Amino acid sequence: MLTDRSEGSELHQRLEQARRVVVLTGAGVSAESGVPTFRGADGLWQEYRAEDLATPEAFRRNPELVWEWYDWRRQLIAKCQPNMAHHAIALLERQSPEFLLLTQNVDGLHRLAGSVQIVELHGNIWCVRCIEEGKITENLDVPLPSIPPRCECGALLRPDVVWFGEALPADALQMAFAAAESCDVFLVVGTSAVVQPAASLPMIARQRGAYVVEVNLEPTPLTPLAHEAHHGKAGDLLPRLLDFPVGTSGNFAIRNSQFEMSSPNPGV
Ligand code: APR
Repeated sequence: MLTDRSEGSELHQRLEQARRVVVLTGAGVSAESGVPTFRGADGLWQEYRAEDLATPEAFRRNPELVWEWYDWRRQLIAKCQPNMAHHAIALLERQSPEFLLLTQNVDGLHRLAGSVQIVELHGNIWCVRCIEEGKITENLDVPLPSIPPRCECGALLRPDVVWFGEALPADALQMAFAAAESCDVFLVVGTSAVVQPAASLPMIARQRGAYVVEVNLEPTPLTPLAHEAHHGKAGDLLPRLLDFPVGTSGNFAIRNSQFEMSSPNPGV
């Protein structure tokens, strides 16, 4: 297995031959944008107790506390921009015959970077759900005008994210497993690979013959199972591994000027 250096990587070649490409991302892909991870040194779960903030029981017990925390995270994320790792993945989508991005992230930065074929496995922090009607709506208020926010029907709204102890949306899960079972290349970026069921997807892909590549700051339980594991910052490694030349302004420049990106998401 190849580790820790991009030269000698087969990834670029494998991608050129691939029909179906799947990418799974976690909090590490947004770390360089300023979004805290969960289990890293400054991760959210070092400072906060998941059972107080990210479970249905916690929400029933104290919806104000839970919303104060999500409002704080939304305010933080609203100041963040996609980084080179997000842009490399968006570009890979454009260059792949068939592509699917499976993200555990709720921050919405992949979409801002231009990714289209996305499955948000754990929901989206910019969507809210009425606990009575189940209706999901987008809410971009930063900060929230009132906590806890309420639906027009008067019922409480909850963040449309997947909490511990909750099942993932059935359609999202089905798409994720089908993609893992039928892809040629499965790229895993910035996840500690400990939270199920997402952590099982790379193994399924490998069992079905896909070429599995891990890009992460540090080794994970997935490292021994990957064909290649590259340890370092995704924003540095991904453009190199995907052979996307970075222009002088630090953004991508496509050789055949198919696609010129001056500055990612100006002023979003
Ligand atoms: N580049 C690449 N990897 C990075 C970077 C970086 N710049 N910074 C951190 N990482 C790595 C860390 O080493 C860690 O292995 O990203 C990983 C992030 O792991 P977690 O914080 O556990 O996040 P994630 O794997 O996405 O968590 C899964 O758990 O808390 C729940 O629902 C939440 O979706 C989340 C799920």
